Amino acid sequence: MTVENKVERSLFDEVMVPCYNPMEMIPVKGEGARVWDQQGREYIDFAGGIAVSCLGHCHPAMVDAVTEQANKLWHLSNVMTNEPALRLAKKLTDVCFAEKVFFANSGAEANEAALKLARRWAADVHGPEKSEIIAFKQGFHGRTFFTVTVGGQAAYSDGFGPKPGDVTHLPYNDIEALEAHISDRTCAIMMEPLQGEGGIISPTSEFVNTVRELCDKHNALLIFDEVQTGNGRTGNFYAYQGLGVTPDILSTAKSLGGGFPIGAMLTTNELAPHLKVGTHGSTYGGNPLACAVAEAVVDVVSQPETLEGVKVREALFRDGLEKINEKYQIFSEVRGKGLLLGAALNDEWQGRARDVLVAAGKEGLMVLVAGANVVRFTPSLVITKEEIEEGLAKLDKAIASLV
Ligand SMILES: Cc1ncc(COP(=O)(O)O)c(C=O)c1O
Repeated sequence: MTVENKVERSLFDEVMVPCYNPMEMIPVKGEGARVWDQQGREYIDFAGGIAVSCLGHCHPAMVDAVTEQANKLWHLSNVMTNEPALRLAKKLTDVCFAEKVFFANSGAEANEAALKLARRWAADVHGPEKSEIIAFKQGFHGRTFFTVTVGGQAAYSDGFGPKPGDVTHLPYNDIEALEAHISDRTCAIMMEPLQGEGGIISPTSEFVNTVRELCDKHNALLIFDEVQTGNGRTGNFYAYQGLGVTPDILSTAKSLGGGFPIGAMLTTNELAPHLKVGTHGSTYGGNPLACAVAEAVVDVVSQPETLEGVKVREALFRDGLEKINEKYQIFSEVRGKGLLLGAALNDEWQGRARDVLVAAGKEGLMVLVAGANVVRFTPSLVITKEEIEEGLAKLDKAIASLV
């Protein structure tokens, strides 16, 4: 690259809509759980995008899949029968409850399809009165206007004019509130089977079982948003499999593409026909390149060794974080499941999650936050033991610099 066209952080402010505020460092290369910036400085990546790079950066299975497909066929409209899309759909139906698949390009789009299917099913089968969507406070489902309205943070959906209607937000893990509110007018409950953006909050077993029972009692659909929890992240292929509660509709994205944009809405033979020809669609949904990469990702992630490996790595993270906590008394708890972990800051450190993220960056470590009080870790599912140890040593140094 010539000096004149070298990209600098200031170019962002010049040419980009300012809805993000990226860091100063500019990553240019990645391999496994390591990333290098423009200056050649090396980082350990405990973030993986935001729970996206489930096989690390440039995994050979993904590189081979994208290269092979790139030399064959890049795009097909949905007017055509599409080999990579059908192969991937078959594999997704093999690894979970679903019998039918709709392909989209992101988590928000997968959720948009899920919500539209639920509303259309209710209108077809029960009539127009059954339109209420129940969702949960602090939940996150994406940024389209319907999904951001269903998400549980009004700050994200306010200020854009009239919102899609008939959406109710209740507290997560509050059985009484749900029992008191749900009715035969409820069309669907949408929830994350472990809240990610909301602070790494697991549902209690009682709560998630009650949600399922109440949906059955009131003829409402259960939609699990597995955009962040899916594709091996919690140690099961989908998190619902570890909870023993099966949804009617499941959305998946992020790690499904391992770094290539794709999303999918998964459902049953009974519900799928309500999205009949012409009711929904997407130009790029099912794109052959995306589907070829996702097929390679599903092949690797669904192997028992990969899923077992997530549990082994979780133990390494928990151990390391506990040692750091013994030294610095910074966390009140480490929560989450598999490699979707959150270290919640204790009273003394309230509001300082971003400080930890910035200090970690200075030591050559990428982490995430989930709100102001939780440091979040969503690394590659195949990160090595050495990379975990190296990253934790950097985190130790980062925290030492803050005390
Ligand atoms: C649970 C959940 N749902 C939906 C989304 C939105 O996905 P996307 O940004 O791909 O639209 C996210 C992204 O963080 C998420 O965590």
